[in-house]
Amino acid sequence: MTADQSNPALDLSRLPRHVAIIMDGNGRWAKKHALQIAMGHRRGTEALRDIIRASSDMGISSLSLYAFSTENWGRPATEVEALMSLMLEFFHSEIDELHQKNVRITILGDKDALPPAQKEALTTAETRTQANTGLRLNIAINYGARAEMVRAARMLAQEVSAGRLSPEDIDENAVARCLYTAGQGDVDLLIRTSGEMRLSNFLLYQCAYAEFLFPTVLWPDFTLAHYHQALAAYQKRSRRYGKREE
Ligand code: FPP
Repeated sequence: MTADQSNPALDLSRLPRHVAIIMDGNGRWAKKHALQIAMGHRRGTEALRDIIRASSDMGISSLSLYAFSTENWGRPATEVEALMSLMLEFFHSEIDELHQKNVRITILGDKDALPPAQKEALTTAETRTQANTGLRLNIAINYGARAEMVRAARMLAQEVSAGRLSPEDIDENAVARCLYTAGQGDVDLLIRTSGEMRLSNFLLYQCAYAEFLFPTVLWPDFTLAHYHQALAAYQKRSRRYGKREE
């Protein structure tokens, strides 16, 4: 079976279960088109809609998107404000369709530091979709992987000091259940657009055995065809997890 006739190389029975995307290049796209940076982020949000729908339709289990890092607060106030209002707009306009598609939304990151309207929209999206059983859509907002691991360490320490856990029982599963992605599998495929080849503090624990792809296309220009190409490239990789091939 193939995803569509224009991409006969894609085998839908061997898709990555968990795809993570660093949507990079919005700023460069805006500059290239002599537009304000906010327009780059707006076009980036539009590109995102098709990728979410396709992931849900193809039966991918988890899709994790890096929308706003803990470091992004250091950008100019106008850009931060533009990103925050785009997020609000996105959640208001997409939530009904995502819910209908049985998508479950999880926010990765600390919502408490967000403006009240954004915090409320994100919490409502999580609560409304929490019983859904389709695509797990993880949106990282005010997220940093090191902060996530520190938070996990603190949660485990609290369980130990309350007498509910003994230090010998802390293993990789115990850490994983304290991450924002608890209950979901590790990342199989990480895509970062725009040609940059860094993880930038995204899902460091979950990417231990991820396959990485760094297409040069800028995120607002990323289409379904690029996504299918990335998935087909993933299917050609040999994943050995440190072992020898049979
Ligand atoms: C990186 O491009 C992109 C971001 C920091 C923001 C990504 C956000 C979106 C695509 C939209 C908001 C998300 C949701 C869920 C509505 P960059 O600005 O760093 O690009 P540059 O490196 O070319 O400057």
